[in-house]
Amino acid sequence: MLLRNRFLLLLALAALLAFLSISLQFFSRWLPVSMQLKTQSHVLPGFPMRLIPAGPGREDSLSAKNRKRIMPDPLTEPSAPDPLYEANLYCNTPGIKERSMEGHAPHNFKLLSVHVMIRHGDRYPLYAIPKTKRPDIDCVLEPGRNPSHPSLSHFISHMTKGSEAQMEGSLISLPRFPSHSLCEMGELTQTGVVQHLLNGQILREHYLKKHRLLPSDWNTKHLYFESTGKSRTLQSGLTLLYSFLPDFDWKKINIKHQWSSIFCSGHCDCPMRNHYLEEEQRRQYSYRVRNTQLEKTYINMAKVVGVPTRQLRASNPIDSLLCHFCHNITFPCTKNGCIDIEHFKVIKSHQIEDERERHEKQLYYKYALLATHPLLNQTVNRMQRIAAGKKDEVFALYSAHDVTLSPILSAIGLTEARFPRFAARLVFELWQNSDNKNKHYVRVLYNGEDVTFQTSFCREHERHSNQPLCPLGKFVNFVKKEMFSSLNSTSYYDACHQRLF
Ligand SMILES: *[C@@H]1O[C@H](CO)[C@@H](O)[C@H](O)[C@H]1NC(C)=O
Ligand SMILES: *[C@@H]1O[C@H](CO)[C@@H](O)[C@H](O)[C@H]1NC(C)=O
Ligand SMILES: *[C@@H]1O[C@H](CO)[C@@H](O)[C@H](O)[C@H]1NC(C)=O
Repeated sequence: MLLRNRFLLLLALAALLAFLSISLQFFSRWLPVSMQLKTQSHVLPGFPMRLIPAGPGREDSLSAKNRKRIMPDPLTEPSAPDPLYEANLYCNTPGIKERSMEGHAPHNFKLLSVHVMIRHGDRYPLYAIPKTKRPDIDCVLEPGRNPSHPSLSHFISHMTKGSEAQMEGSLISLPRFPSHSLCEMGELTQTGVVQHLLNGQILREHYLKKHRLLPSDWNTKHLYFESTGKSRTLQSGLTLLYSFLPDFDWKKINIKHQWSSIFCSGHCDCPMRNHYLEEEQRRQYSYRVRNTQLEKTYINMAKVVGVPTRQLRASNPIDSLLCHFCHNITFPCTKNGCIDIEHFKVIKSHQIEDERERHEKQLYYKYALLATHPLLNQTVNRMQRIAAGKKDEVFALYSAHDVTLSPILSAIGLTEARFPRFAARLVFELWQNSDNKNKHYVRVLYNGEDVTFQTSFCREHERHSNQPLCPLGKFVNFVKKEMFSSLNSTSYYDACHQRLF
């Protein structure tokens, strides 16, 4: 038995390595989840290719109106996907008041618990474009500099007092707020901090002030807080928490460390998950090389920068250009010319088309089902405990990455949802019917929008009943059964191990 297990482990390792060597070359974005944290390459957003024309052309392409439309508005949203419009949504620049539907339910419903999954806020690029100047962004928090927030200076002073917090593993050695005058690679920016101060403020309004989710004498056991081991996720989570519970007592905070960016904890061994991810990467590669206009664009950009095309591609220019775009910094120039808006439009359009093909081919969906089961399973278990009367962990916060949120959106069937923007938030609410305390319901919200009836487990429900919320049982059944039946299996273990061996 032991030998057989070792053999399987070796096989899985070999498969992983083979696939790694391909993916490292071509797909920095889709590195195998198990390796992502080590290679640092896992947070390459799907929407971050925004190139800004250098010089005066810029304001035309980015009208004030365009900048304001962070929340999609059905009346003004362009009918065909527009790269600049999408880019602005992705940046999530603070300053626009959004409608948020968190905590909305009929009077006879009582809010029992809230489960929040966030993407970290705006960050400095993870990669530099070779032979160009890095974007000049100051990560020192400065309340007098825009974007800012009324709580920013109190936040800073509270963070400096945090040495009593209990944090697991390496989290304790991370800085609790950003502080470099030239941002480090991947560092959370002031924009990112403000984004999560705003998130926390919204959650505070709805969940604490309106629904009194936590008792006034709340303590450690009421909260569950888990973060990956990056400073930007820890800091994003702390920021949201500070805004949610201003001046919280550090002694009541206990932060769990999650090494896996899909939060698979003790259930990470899943060969079929890696298999589907590998197939998805192949699809992505073949779709990319078929786009000759895109290939030409990379060649042209490489000439501008003065490096081989392969090297330019490997530096993931999109990631860096996104940062330029979101921070209103002109694109890099060299003596050969400048990176410009036309480059952007080509790459951006390709990404939009790629997302569409990705959805059609369903390989990512299968990956997503397996990748997100452990986290959704944990969420469902927690909801069931609370529905049964437990008062622990009524507020759960997972501070994570785009590669965490994106598969959850896919797995629960939110096919229309946009790729997670900076400081995206996905919320699951648990409700109880006050007239019939055995009846429990869920609501699902993405960036404040109620998407409950767009999920695969509740899509039909709306049409066939007149209940305003989705029964908890639907969500439980989805996570415990339906997730596997889509994969012709009956359990997570079977679905993970079926075809490879
Ligand atoms: C962007 O920068 C330009 C100058 O570089 C400035 O005139 C413009 O107001 C800025 N736009 C925004 C939205 O901050
Ligand atoms: C799912 O939750 C159950 C508890 O209800 C647990 O026994 C099981 O190990 C979990 N499975 C996974 C894959 O997380
Ligand atoms: C499940 O089985 C059906 C019919 O045999 C097949 O068409 C489908 O591709 C299978 N799905 C998966 C994920 O293997």
